[in-house]
Amino acid sequence: MNIPFVDLKAQYKSLLPEMDEAIMHAIHTTAFIAGGPADTFEKAYASYMGMTHTIACANGTDSLEILLKAMGIGTGDEVLVPAISWISTAESVTTAGGTPVFVDVDDDLLIDLNLIEQHITPRTKAIIPVHLYGNPVDMNRIMEIATKHGLHVLEDCAQSHAATIHGKKAGTFGHASSFSFYPGKNLGAYGDAGGMVTNNDEIARIARAIANHGQEGKHNHLLEGRNSRMDGIQAAVLNTKLPHLEKWTDMRINNARIYSDLLQASVHKPREREGFKHVYHLYVIQCDNRDELALRLKEKGIDTAVHYPIPMPFMPCYSRFNHSEIDFPNAAKIAKRIISLPMYAELTQEQIAYVAEHVNANY
Ligand SMILES: Cc1ncc(COP(=O)(O)O)c(C=O)c1O
Repeated sequence: MNIPFVDLKAQYKSLLPEMDEAIMHAIHTTAFIAGGPADTFEKAYASYMGMTHTIACANGTDSLEILLKAMGIGTGDEVLVPAISWISTAESVTTAGGTPVFVDVDDDLLIDLNLIEQHITPRTKAIIPVHLYGNPVDMNRIMEIATKHGLHVLEDCAQSHAATIHGKKAGTFGHASSFSFYPGKNLGAYGDAGGMVTNNDEIARIARAIANHGQEGKHNHLLEGRNSRMDGIQAAVLNTKLPHLEKWTDMRINNARIYSDLLQASVHKPREREGFKHVYHLYVIQCDNRDELALRLKEKGIDTAVHYPIPMPFMPCYSRFNHSEIDFPNAAKIAKRIISLPMYAELTQEQIAYVAEHVNANY
């Protein structure tokens, strides 16, 4: 049996012919950039999130950077980020003009809430909690810390569409939240796309302007911005997919529970915490022989991946901070142990059983 890490074709097939019609409609109406499907998506996503503003943009990295800038973060400002995430979380701080300050992760690979305050200095302006793998950070605790220290909070929701914390959606707690709609995400376009979500009118106004060359209305350039717009075809894809997001999320959660039932007790599985809805963008286990396990699974036709093998502070691009493993002991230890198993809504029970059988045999 061959089991890919993700199977985007399976989902596309389930959306036919509606998806082809939506894409062709965007082409026939020449709704390539602004207006049309992108406007529809902004309204639909804001309504789905229960938030005032969604600003569609080109990708989830731009969306982080633009929101930081719209919050006024720039030169000399420090922003706290978890030691393990996709690089965009830290990269966007630097490209906004600030300095990322890394905080070690806890055993769920989320920013360690107990370590945040010791990293706060007079220059700290914001925190970016990342709901990594679709597992939401305790946002009530984050907001308490942020309020106490007068910090902005930007939620990185690139992996956590539809996740909730005590019934409230991840992405609705902070001052703003950033979404990626990269094809493999839980809500993915057919190319790059991103979205900025906020209830704050001023953040929304500036973010919208930055994403469109600083314009507020045609030829009224409030500031120098950039070109980061969602194209109409991607928006048409997202409009077709959004109504299915909750169903696909349930299917992911169900698949994760099947994995967790079938994997033997000795396997270190992802933990579900009471009140926190993990939406399993990734199903990540931990083991001592990660590379060996990946090889054995590959021999059986099973694709795996590692998210992420190198904690950000140890990447060559951050050598200027001179960090070593003692600074982030948990991230250093866990990054050597994690391995992501195939995960998508359309995985069959038979496929999950096959993966579980071979993980159990080689763990
Ligand atoms: C946690 C996290 N933040 C940000 C991003 C950036 O999103 P994009 O690839 O759309 O730029 C990603 C995407 O991989 C991500 O996983």
